[in-house]
Amino acid sequence: VETLKKLANWKKRSGPVVFVVMDGVAYGKRKEGDAVANAVMETFAELSSTCPLVKLKAHGEAVGLPSDEDMGNSEVGHNAFGAGRIFAQGAKLVNKSLQEGSMFSGNTWQEAIKTQGVLHFIGLLSDGGVHSNIKHLEAMVKQAKIDGVKVVRIHALLDGRDVPATSALEYFEPFEALLAELNADGTFDAKIASGGGRMYITMDRYNADWPMVERGWHTHVLGEGRQFSSSVEAIKTLRAETSALDQDLPPFVIAKDGKAIGTVQDGDSVILFNYRGDRALEITSAFESGNDFPHFDRIRVPKVFYAGMMEYDGDLHVPKHYLVTPPAIDRTLAEFLCALKLKQYSISETQKFGHITYFFNGNKSGKFDENLETYVEIKGDNVPFEQRPAMKCAEITDAVLEAINSKEYDFIKINYPNGDMVGHTGSYQAAVASLEAMDLNIGRLKKAIEAVGGILVVSADHGNADEMYEFKKDGTVAMENGKPKAKTSHSLNPVPFIIFDPTYQGEYDLKLKEGLGISHVAATLINLLGYEAPSDYDTSIITLK
Ligand code: 3PG
Ligand code: CO
Repeated sequence: VETLKKLANWKKRSGPVVFVVMDGVAYGKRKEGDAVANAVMETFAELSSTCPLVKLKAHGEAVGLPSDEDMGNSEVGHNAFGAGRIFAQGAKLVNKSLQEGSMFSGNTWQEAIKTQGVLHFIGLLSDGGVHSNIKHLEAMVKQAKIDGVKVVRIHALLDGRDVPATSALEYFEPFEALLAELNADGTFDAKIASGGGRMYITMDRYNADWPMVERGWHTHVLGEGRQFSSSVEAIKTLRAETSALDQDLPPFVIAKDGKAIGTVQDGDSVILFNYRGDRALEITSAFESGNDFPHFDRIRVPKVFYAGMMEYDGDLHVPKHYLVTPPAIDRTLAEFLCALKLKQYSISETQKFGHITYFFNGNKSGKFDENLETYVEIKGDNVPFEQRPAMKCAEITDAVLEAINSKEYDFIKINYPNGDMVGHTGSYQAAVASLEAMDLNIGRLKKAIEAVGGILVVSADHGNADEMYEFKKDGTVAMENGKPKAKTSHSLNPVPFIIFDPTYQGEYDLKLKEGLGISHVAATLINLLGYEAPSDYDTSIITLK
């Protein structure tokens, strides 16, 4: 990339620019269940009342999603932060590929349907739109029949995290009905063969909990586990027994006469229909790795044609085969800062580590320059986060304070997972506790920034903790068993953008530009580092004088 020009009138600050992503923290519309509004967050309140602040759009078209009905998520949010522009995202690209028919005329699909065995689909069965869309799966199963595939098996994960917490049957029942309809003429045999909660099997990310993937492998591939005659029976039974939310439901295997109906065998094809990469990479590597697979004993590794909905890692080219080409996210912030020889530090705890590195860099796992970029992962605990609501925000902050005081770094970026990871548990009280702990730590950062004369920028990738309750159409709180019904998914609310610049030299207007989205943050950060933003970036939120 080109070398950016220095801003003529900028007085270089003595400390770094520190960018904080408060994951899942936005401005809610209603006070009830809004953990952000109701938590005691003295630092956030003080920054809000004394610093330049503006609300940014973090959902829908502002982050490259199909429509403004789509809530934001961390992938598209961090992509937008890091790329400084809006790219049409996975959800949109798969829709387009299906509409135009290029998915089915492409080599990957043509190869997959050649199987003389079974065509398997694995993925998240909902219309949450973050990792997958059930409409894509429906289109593929229908096309498989048209293309003469005889046997299809679907390994379906319950969502309840990007959609209402116990909505699984709204997807499984009509989907089973669709399969019955397709099977009716006797030429086609498509069935759900296994499943389970997405946070219990298969969809781990960032090496946080490989046993999740191992459980998924046993369920989908080996067909081992508790047997049921249908997915709907399994879900109803397991719910009654465990009272687990969908995302945590134990796994199930569909069997006939005691035999699993959909184990994966040599010669089969397997399509992972999730398009988002973070939670797709581990199960993909279980299928694609040879003998050097250290994470668990796969017992049996069927020789299959394996394909992903997308390329999940553009650096490592994983998986080998995919149906839709991902957005070509280039010219990211990190690359420009490397060209300027600025030293950068990126940190989060495990669950969001890849967000602040891999997603921020346009879904590339590698660095642009080993000598200029430091990645720090604070290992998370594998516990339900409502039991440890602070998560590792103090440990993250300890490390950042060291980095600030080392005077080594020009730019530091931090993701605090609190609002999002605890928000997804549906526990309002835990979300409040989590945000209060995070706020105490942002207070520590603020002090350090003041001491060294740096700039602190605080924003968020999308909402979550700002809506912890489900609401009815009439605007009142939805109740369940006498308590507010927990909302586990993200919100569509706007996020904060705050600049704390204690040694402000008057180079820019303190009034920030209104009506923008989070793709405008990158240009702003580049300005705050004292450089002109690339001309193709979405414009800066500050007006330079
Ligand atoms: C998840 O993967 O946990 C959710 O689907 C989305 O959460 P994230 O976009 O905040 O990671
Ligand atoms: Co989230």
